[in-house]
Amino acid sequence: MNVWKVPLADVTMGPEEIAAVTAVLQSGWLSMGPKTQEFEERFADFLGVKYAFAVANGTAALHLACEVVGMGPGDEVLCPALTFVASANAVLYTGARPVFVDVIGSHDLNLAVDDAAAKITARTRAIMVVHYGGYPANMDAIAPLARQHGLKIIEDCAHAPGAAYQSAQGPRLAGTMGDIGCFSFFSNKNMTTGEGGMVVTNDEELSGKIKTARSHGMTTLTWDRHRGHSFSYDVVARGYNYRLDEMRAALGLVQLNRLEAGNARRRDLTEACRAQLQDLDDLKVPFRDAPDGSAHHLFPILLKDCAKRADFMAALARQGIQTSIHYPPVHLFSYYRSLWEAGYNHQVPLTEEIASRLVTLPLYPTLTMAQLNTVVAASRAYFR
Ligand SMILES: Cc1ncc(COP(=O)(O)O)c(C=O)c1O
Repeated sequence: MNVWKVPLADVTMGPEEIAAVTAVLQSGWLSMGPKTQEFEERFADFLGVKYAFAVANGTAALHLACEVVGMGPGDEVLCPALTFVASANAVLYTGARPVFVDVIGSHDLNLAVDDAAAKITARTRAIMVVHYGGYPANMDAIAPLARQHGLKIIEDCAHAPGAAYQSAQGPRLAGTMGDIGCFSFFSNKNMTTGEGGMVVTNDEELSGKIKTARSHGMTTLTWDRHRGHSFSYDVVARGYNYRLDEMRAALGLVQLNRLEAGNARRRDLTEACRAQLQDLDDLKVPFRDAPDGSAHHLFPILLKDCAKRADFMAALARQGIQTSIHYPPVHLFSYYRSLWEAGYNHQVPLTEEIASRLVTLPLYPTLTMAQLNTVVAASRAYFR
């Protein structure tokens, strides 16, 4: 499938995935049912949380999270600008407004807590924490800030399944430190179901709301009625069809088994790549001194000179190496500009400066050392 010698990301699929999906197809029950329940239970066990709900994708997970914490028109939500647009879009769906927060700096691309604190107003309702690239954000500073101002914390863990934050109380898994954790299983993620996601929480009241809103606000599932557990249903809230299906749940169960080994391989590749690039003056590797525990979803580098970025990416592409940019800052997209052109001033100067120099190099568990060496050699040759 790959036109690239070294693609940016790749999936790890084996006979186990094929067998698992085939078994579902043969079972005769394809929409949300026992496999999804098993996937949710296993995912909740893995994270050590009380409740997990499988959903159609990571964006649906974020939307449900935003909705059930009560976001709505007039509310402001602190959110990094250096993220995939879905983090901010989910806030917009509720009628609330994302207020963009700057990054810490070139060594750490997560949100700066002092900037978040400075942007809190009487309207601020929540903070969307994105664990950028799989590197956990500074939750020991974010949690007390949120407590002090009565803000809900939604963790966007699209990059961070299995990432452990080294908190003062010991390691804590991403997704378990806020009110709600949201995961994506899109095909470039550390574990994938093609499209898919998960919402996790320890809060019983929120869990009930998530479960209902995921399936049209209905009180029972088709699966419940199929088993004769119920004949009818009521609709008790505004809801959506954000359900996952059984094929994807079966895939997810196998992918979850691969996650820890995949994350470890990502770590080893990251360390090897860092070591081979560290003497180059023309680029910096963010998170070089980050504590252990990242899920190593991305391998971002920062060029010294933003003017060279397009040419650098083109030089690598000519050698069959795919690169990307994570991310063009959300507030600079045309749609977001159009929303706030009149009178809303997004102050994230560091994000803008840093994002102009960012490049993401390939990283995935099946990346071979030979492929990694190709990427390193091409980068070194460019700056020689
Ligand atoms: C940070 C972040 N948030 C949210 C999402 C949305 O997830 P999905 O594509 O599964 O809707 C993604 C990835 O796609 C992401 O990278």
